[in-house]
Amino acid sequence: MADHSPSNAAAKPARVIAIANQKGGVGKTTTAINLATAMAATKKSVLIIDLDPQGNASTGLGIDRNAREVNSYHVLIGEAALAESVIATTIPGLHLVPSGTDLSGAEIELVEFDRREHRLRQSLAGSLDAYDYVLIDCPPSLNLLTLNALVAADAVMVPLQCEFFALEGVSHLVKTIERVRQAFNPGLELQGIILTMFDKRNNLSDQVAADVRDFFGDKVYKTVIPRNVRVSEAPSHGKPVLLYDMKCSGAEAYIHLASEVLKRERELRG
Ligand SMILES: Nc1ncnc2c1ncn2[C@@H]1O[C@H](COP(=O)(O)OP(=O)(O)OP(=O)(O)O)[C@@H](O)[C@H]1O
Ligand SMILES: [Mg+2]
Repeated sequence: MADHSPSNAAAKPARVIAIANQKGGVGKTTTAINLATAMAATKKSVLIIDLDPQGNASTGLGIDRNAREVNSYHVLIGEAALAESVIATTIPGLHLVPSGTDLSGAEIELVEFDRREHRLRQSLAGSLDAYDYVLIDCPPSLNLLTLNALVAADAVMVPLQCEFFALEGVSHLVKTIERVRQAFNPGLELQGIILTMFDKRNNLSDQVAADVRDFFGDKVYKTVIPRNVRVSEAPSHGKPVLLYDMKCSGAEAYIHLASEVLKRERELRG
């Protein structure tokens, strides 16, 4: 039997990375699931926190709704400790804090709380030694849930879909990151930009990729995630694409991305 218990030999607190873009359907959840799986395959201990009321990361990892009773909502409002909400996935080394339907009301409830942007950060403090990486899957909004993720995070990763309006709204996201740095979390870094759903038959994809690289320079990962039907099929089987079809172009791209991310992490962290 595989050992699913979290272990982080180095016992340094995990590096927390928020995967955010207020635009919907750009590949945040797909990136969270598959990047985390590829990292876990290299023996990293990884935790995904599903902070989206849609719960797509939980579903995409095959987690039954009955197993989501204690979830990110309870962690966020301080009703449960992180460890109480963590469940093992079928992937050795990959754990998940699932999402729950209560999360959709959390935004309104949190308004009543002191330091409401800091709730997740406080809940994670002291519980991060078991992991090397924590990836937070954010909802498609710059709401209080995403703000909590950005305040809790060391770095933010932004997936951008290779389509005509890719850069629209990005300046708003960049300004939000800047505001979070100034007001709440001075150490927040832009970890990187990931180009997703690249269609090599479409000249527009090349044009968008070039524009994004002009704008963000070497923050943009060299690895580009191709549009690949296997990637979109995998969640309905409750599996990362790396398990669903390890040899498809999407799976290979996420494996490359993980090695690029880990290399950049070594450079950023020294
Ligand atoms: N590389 C890809 N190739 C083909 N389909 C993809 C790819 N990446 C993501 N998809 C599909 O595109 C849709 C949106 O992806 P995903 O759910 O990851 O985006 P998201 O940014 O998390 O969306 P939301 O904003 O709703 O949370 C999904 O149906 C997903 O399966
Ligand atoms: Mg999503």
